[in-house]
Amino acid sequence: MAAPAVKTDNATPNFLAACRRQPVSHTPVWVMRQAGRYLPEYRKVREKVGFTGLTRSPELAAEVTLQPIRRFALDASIIFSDIMVPIEGMGVDLEYAPGPVIGTPIRTLKQVEELRPLIPEEGVPFVMEAIKLTRAGLPAHVPLIGFCGSPFTLFSYLVAGKPSKEFSVPRAFAQAEPEISAKLMDKLADAMIVYLKAQAGAGAQALMLFESWGGLLGPTDYARVALPHVKKIIDGLKDVGVPIIYFANQCGGSLSSIAALNADVIGLDWRTSLGGARKILGPHKAVQGNLDPAHLFSSPENLRLRVDEVLADAGPGPGHIFNLGHGIWPETDPDSVARLVDYVHARTAR
Ligand code: CP3
Repeated sequence: MAAPAVKTDNATPNFLAACRRQPVSHTPVWVMRQAGRYLPEYRKVREKVGFTGLTRSPELAAEVTLQPIRRFALDASIIFSDIMVPIEGMGVDLEYAPGPVIGTPIRTLKQVEELRPLIPEEGVPFVMEAIKLTRAGLPAHVPLIGFCGSPFTLFSYLVAGKPSKEFSVPRAFAQAEPEISAKLMDKLADAMIVYLKAQAGAGAQALMLFESWGGLLGPTDYARVALPHVKKIIDGLKDVGVPIIYFANQCGGSLSSIAALNADVIGLDWRTSLGGARKILGPHKAVQGNLDPAHLFSSPENLRLRVDEVLADAGPGPGHIFNLGHGIWPETDPDSVARLVDYVHARTAR
């Protein structure tokens, strides 16, 4: 008997079904950075506590994680934290202004060797506490995503010492000091494996790796410099049993090497066609994305047209999770997010 084309039970949340390319009752949708400054209720919490304090308070982190879930019919939740949080757990001093700023940027082998291996329960216990509290507050049909930064993206911040458009310092460093660079990224990969395992152990039902700066590398450098460390993490999570999402921001030129990763879902930005990516990634990967965050500023009518374009590009097959192509902008009108979520559901109901 052929598998039913329409999902008939509510046992598996649509988000998790889509990660595994199974049939869904509607295309699941969530928004990168869905907890954040575009929400007045988030800004209200931030009036009382700094960003670091927020990430370190399980109660407040759970509260802001749940804020967008209360407001919108989202199909997934992502734990409120930051890719740099586990780095603090490795002994690196950093602050957010608002992007991460490192006290002493890493530029020597000695500094790499001095990085403490991450023991999540000791270095960042509050993340696992926040996951437990959030899971307890979420409805059953809304899975919770845990996440980390990919080694090359973390490396970029650690070596640059501050956010940057071009990241010329870490890019030059990767060329001038390939061995120190690889050693740093390998150490970060080991830390992210235990970190993601701890998040899954605390209740995260999917795990996402953010390769926010992978697009700085050309395809051969990406394959040589960044990819081996991502592969190590994903292969290291093989036995965890939850879907793995790899957000390959601006990595459209590297999709043929990304296709070899054991990730379940590849997240794409709006510069890459979902349909084109699917052809390269093959039938065993789902895709996530990829509305340009700027489209949340268009009229309701035009927003619907832009959503239709993304859905048409993704195609009718299973394995599409609707999202933005990158984080939502702080200036976005929350009502536009509500219209987006409701329209994706209405348009894709099966
Ligand atoms: O809702 C969610 O998506 C969860 C929360 C989340 C944050 N950071 C909160 C945050 C997630 C998933 C991240 C990941 C993150 N952090 C990435 C990968 C995603 C991406 O955007 O590519 C990166 C590159 C970072 C590093 C980072 N942290 C930057 C560049 C910034 C400044 C960005 C900005 O919006 O100004 C941060 C700080 C940060 N992380 C904020 C938030 C809500 C802003 C802090 C504030 O409230 O003042």
